[in-house]
Amino acid sequence: MDKIGINGGKALKGRVKISGAKNAALPIMAATLLASGKFKIHNVPDLRDVKTMAHLLRIIGAQVEFANNSLTIDTSKCNFYEAPYELVKTMRASIYVLAPLLARFLEAKVSLPGGCALGSRPVDLHLKGLEKLGAKIELEKGYIVANAKKLTGASINFDISSVGATGNILMAAVLAQGRTVIGNASHEPEITALAQFLVTMGADIEGIETGRLTVHGVNHLKPVEYTVVPDRIETGTYLMAAAITGGEVELTDTDPKILTSLVSKLRECGVLIEEGDSTLYCKAPNQIKPVSITTAPYPGFPTDLQAQWMTLMCVANGSSMITDTIFVDRFTHVAELRRLGAEIKRNKNSAVVTGTENLNGAPVMSTDLRASASLILAGLRAQGRTDVLRVYHIDRGYEKIEEKLKLLGADIWREEGGL
Ligand code: EPZ
Repeated sequence: MDKIGINGGKALKGRVKISGAKNAALPIMAATLLASGKFKIHNVPDLRDVKTMAHLLRIIGAQVEFANNSLTIDTSKCNFYEAPYELVKTMRASIYVLAPLLARFLEAKVSLPGGCALGSRPVDLHLKGLEKLGAKIELEKGYIVANAKKLTGASINFDISSVGATGNILMAAVLAQGRTVIGNASHEPEITALAQFLVTMGADIEGIETGRLTVHGVNHLKPVEYTVVPDRIETGTYLMAAAITGGEVELTDTDPKILTSLVSKLRECGVLIEEGDSTLYCKAPNQIKPVSITTAPYPGFPTDLQAQWMTLMCVANGSSMITDTIFVDRFTHVAELRRLGAEIKRNKNSAVVTGTENLNGAPVMSTDLRASASLILAGLRAQGRTDVLRVYHIDRGYEKIEEKLKLLGADIWREEGGL
C-alpha cells in the first residue's frame, strides 16, 4: 500500500486547478441508468471512486469509456439490475444505483452498505422513501431487494436532511407517475447539480436549491451532454493548505459561491481571501486566530471539511471548539494528530483544540478520505518528515494530490509499499 512522504515547513505558493466534484459525479453517473442511450459527461475527476462507479455501471450492462476527465456512458444495453457486495463494500455511494434501476426496470438488488469509519450510516430514509413511492423492499442475505409494478408520486418528509436519500428519491420520482414532494430535502450543491442534470434529461423538478423539491413524473428521459460542477471540498482543502503553511495561492476552475461558510470562517482566522467568478485567491496571516465551527447541512459548515479545519486549529494562537452534528463519531483523525504533537480534548461530538507553535513530523495512519487530507495538511506544516500511510483513502477523493501540492512548492512524494 502506498504512502505519502512530506518534509514540512514550506509555504505554498502559486496556482492550482480544481477538479470536478466527486460527490456530484457519482450520483450523475448513476442517473444515466434512467434513460437509454449515449451520455457525455465532462470535468469528471480521475478518482478511484469514479472508476468503481464506472465498473458498477459496466456490470449492469453499460458501456463506459473514461479519458481526459470525460466519460462516455452508453446505457442502451443495460440488463443486469444488481450492485454486488464486492463493489458496495468499497464504496457506499454505490447505493445511488438503487433508485435509477428501480425507476427504469422496476426491479433492483443492491448490497446493503456495511460499516464505516465515520460511524453508523443507515439507509433507512432511502428505503422508506422508495416504499412511499410504491416499491416493495425486502432485505435478503445482506441485499436490498426492491421491485414495483409501478412508482407513483407521494409526499415524503425526511426526518434528517440526507444527501444520499434526497438523491435516490429524486431519481425515482422523475419517472414516477404523478407528483412527488420531498420536504427537508438536502440542497447541497452536489444535489443541485444532480437535479439540474435530470432537468437537462427532460425531468420536471421545481424548488431546486431549496429544501423542498416538487417533481412531476415524466414517461421518458433522454441521454445528454453535461459538465460536472467544481469540487468545493477539494477547494476548501487547498485553501486550508495555503493557510496552514503561511502561503499564498490562487485556485482556478472553482466556484466561490458554494463555499461561503468556509470562506467566512477563514476570514475570521485572519486569512485574506479574494473571490473571482471561478477563482479564489488566498493569503495566510502571520498567525492563525482560533475560530470554532459546528458542522451542518449546506449552506452550513461542511462535515467533509471538519478534519481539515481541526488541523488548522492545531496551529492557531489559542483554543477553539469543533462540533460535528452530522457524523457525531467523525473523530478518527484526533489520535493521529496527537501523534504529531497536537493538543486535542474530545468530548462526545465535540473536540477542544489548543493551538501549539509547531507540530513535529511522524508516521500517521489514514482512516478515511477526509481524515487523510487533514493528516497531509498537518504534514505540510509539521517540522521534519511525516509519512501518511494507507493513502488509498485519499485517492478516492483527491485527484493527483501530491502533484498538485508539488506545483505549489510542497516537498511531497509518493512511495510504494508501507503498512
Ligand atoms: C454524503 O454522504 C457524502 N457522500 C459524504 O461525503 C458527506 O459527508 C455527507 O453526504 C454529508 O454531507 C457522497 O456524496 C458520496 P447523508 P451520505 O445521507 O449521503 C444520516 C466524502 O468524504 N442518515 O447526508 O451518506 C447519516 O447517518 C463523503 O466525500 C440516516 O440516518 O450522507 C448522517 O448522520 C463522506 N438515514 C446524516 O443522515 C439515512 O437513510 C447525513 O447523511 C441516510 C442518512
